[in-house]
Amino acid sequence: MPDHTMDVLIDHATISRRISDMARAIEADLESEVPILVGILKGSIHFLSDLGRHLRIDAEMDFMQAKSYVGTESTGNVRILKDLDVDIAGRHVILVEDIIDTGVTISHLVAHLSIRSPKSLRVASLLSKPDARKVQIEADYLGFSIPNEFVVGYGLDFDERYRNLPYIAIYRRSSD
Ligand code: IMP
Ligand code: MG
Repeated sequence: MPDHTMDVLIDHATISRRISDMARAIEADLESEVPILVGILKGSIHFLSDLGRHLRIDAEMDFMQAKSYVGTESTGNVRILKDLDVDIAGRHVILVEDIIDTGVTISHLVAHLSIRSPKSLRVASLLSKPDARKVQIEADYLGFSIPNEFVVGYGLDFDERYRNLPYIAIYRRSSD
């Protein structure tokens, strides 16, 4: 017996169509200015590259990496492992995240970047688990709301595995 099951939740074609819609929404908001897409490593890899390919405007890309420690505090704690290379003052910035779960990571990153005077700072997230929220924050551009289940694929991992999958699957241990 395998120790886990993986069931497809969102297939590749559905993800692609949705990211295309998100690109149209972003273009409409940008008034022909060149945005900086900030990919949050590592989970945003597929989403960032798809979003970039779907955009019909020029965009720059940069990356950040954060690690969240959830201790006894319900809000957890976030450490920046890699910060931006570029200056975002006066620029339109879109944080590109794989999933908003408790909201701790993305709200920390928004606070961290907003003091650098970007012209605008928005969040694009492929997935959201609204039922898991501990910090009240929502994406400006959201791909899919999903149930409070652990998912893998399309950048999301379980112990660094499955990020490469071209679809999103629910990962469950067989004993659960
Ligand atoms: P948050 O700070 O709780 O919102 O969680 C943010 C990070 O936790 C995401 O960027 C993911 O890396 C990870 N995460 C949350 N839920 C899942 C999941 O279902 N599968 C894989 N990673 C997840
Ligand atoms: Mg992860």
